[in-house]
Amino acid sequence: MNQKVLVTGGTGYIGSHTIIDLIENGYEVVCVDNGSNSDTSSLAAVKDITGIDVPYYHLDLCELDGVKRIFTEHPDIKGVIHFAALKAVGESVEQPIRYFRNNLDSLINILDVATQNHVEALIFSSSCTVYGDVTHSPVTEETPLQEAASPYGRTKQMGEQMITDSLKNSSVKSILLRYFNPAGAHASAKLGESPVNPAQNLVPVITETAIGKRKEMTVFGDDYPTRDGSAIRDYIHVVDLAHAHTLALRYIFEGKQQVSTDVFNVGIGNGLSVLEIIHAFESQTGEKLNYKVGPRRAGDIMAIYSDYSKAKNLLGWEPKLDVNDIMHSAWAWEKERTGRQIQ
Ligand code: UD1
Repeated sequence: MNQKVLVTGGTGYIGSHTIIDLIENGYEVVCVDNGSNSDTSSLAAVKDITGIDVPYYHLDLCELDGVKRIFTEHPDIKGVIHFAALKAVGESVEQPIRYFRNNLDSLINILDVATQNHVEALIFSSSCTVYGDVTHSPVTEETPLQEAASPYGRTKQMGEQMITDSLKNSSVKSILLRYFNPAGAHASAKLGESPVNPAQNLVPVITETAIGKRKEMTVFGDDYPTRDGSAIRDYIHVVDLAHAHTLALRYIFEGKQQVSTDVFNVGIGNGLSVLEIIHAFESQTGEKLNYKVGPRRAGDIMAIYSDYSKAKNLLGWEPKLDVNDIMHSAWAWEKERTGRQIQ
C-alpha cells in the first residue's frame, strides 16, 4: 500500500508542485491549507495532471482540534511535509506578532500531533534566509547563522530549533530543507505561482510586468558591490525543489537517516543577479521588459547562493533545470493564468 503523507500549505506554490511529485512517486497525499494566499484551483490542476483527487481540509493549523481531526480521520499518515506559513519578508516587519503567532503556533500543533501519532518523517520548509546577511557564498549547512534580517526569517530559525529540540527524544525524524529562491512553473503550464496577494518575488513581478499587469518594475539597487551592481540570488526551479521533498521523505522512510534532525540546502549552486535574470527573461521569451533602477529594498542582502553537495551526496538530489527553464515555464504559466482571468 502507498504510504500516506500530509502536505500542509498544499494549495500553495511549492506545496502543490510537491503534491504532484509525491503522487508521481507513488505516495498517497492528504492536503490541508487555510487558503490565506492560495485557492483550490491548484488542486484542480493536480487532478488534471495526475488524475488524482487529493483529499483536502480547509482549516487553520493554529487550531489544534482541526489538526487532530485530520489524524483521527487518517490515522495512517506516515509523513508530514509542513509548508504552511506566512512568507512575505516586508509584511513580517510590519506585523511581527501575526508572523510569530501563525508560523510558530501552527508548527507547535504539527509537532504535537505528529509525535502523538505514528508519523515517521517530518519535512520542514526552511529558507536560506536563516543564514542572514552572509559575507561569503556559497553557503554550506555548516555556515554559521547570522541574526535574522526579518521576523519572517526569525520564524524559520526558531522553527528549525523547535523541531530539533522537540523531536530529539521521539521516534519522528525530520529534515529541514533550506530553500534558496524558488521560481518557474510546471511544464504543463497548468500550475504555477498564483498568489492571492500581490506578487513581490522577482520572477512573478517580471512576468506580470511583461504581460501588462504592471506598467513597469523596479530593480531594487544597482549599487551593490557585485559584477553588475544588482543583488545576487540562487534561483531554483520549483519542480526540482518539489522533488527534493520526495527524496527527503524517502531517505527517512528507508531508514537511512541516522540523526534525529538533519538539514539540507536546496539551491542550484550558482548566483545570478537581478539584471541577469531580467536579461534571461528577455532573451528566452523575446519580450522587452519595462524596468527602471530604484533604491535598494529594505532588508535585502547583497548576495547569497548555495553549496548543495550535502543534498547531492546523501539524498541523491540534483537540480535538472536551469534559469532558461524557469523563464520559459514562468512565462507560459503567466500567459495561461492571465488568459483565464480575462475570460
Ligand atoms: C526572500 C528570502 C527567502 C524567502 C522569500 C520569500 C532572503 C535571502 N531570501 O527572498 O528566503 O523565501 O523572500 O518571499 O532573505 N527584486 C527586484 N525587484 C522586484 C522584486 C525583487 O529587484 O520587484 C530583487 C530583490 O531586491 C532581490 C531579488 O530580486 O535582490 C530577489 O527578490 P525576491 O524574489 O523578493 O526574493 P528574496 O528577497 O531573495
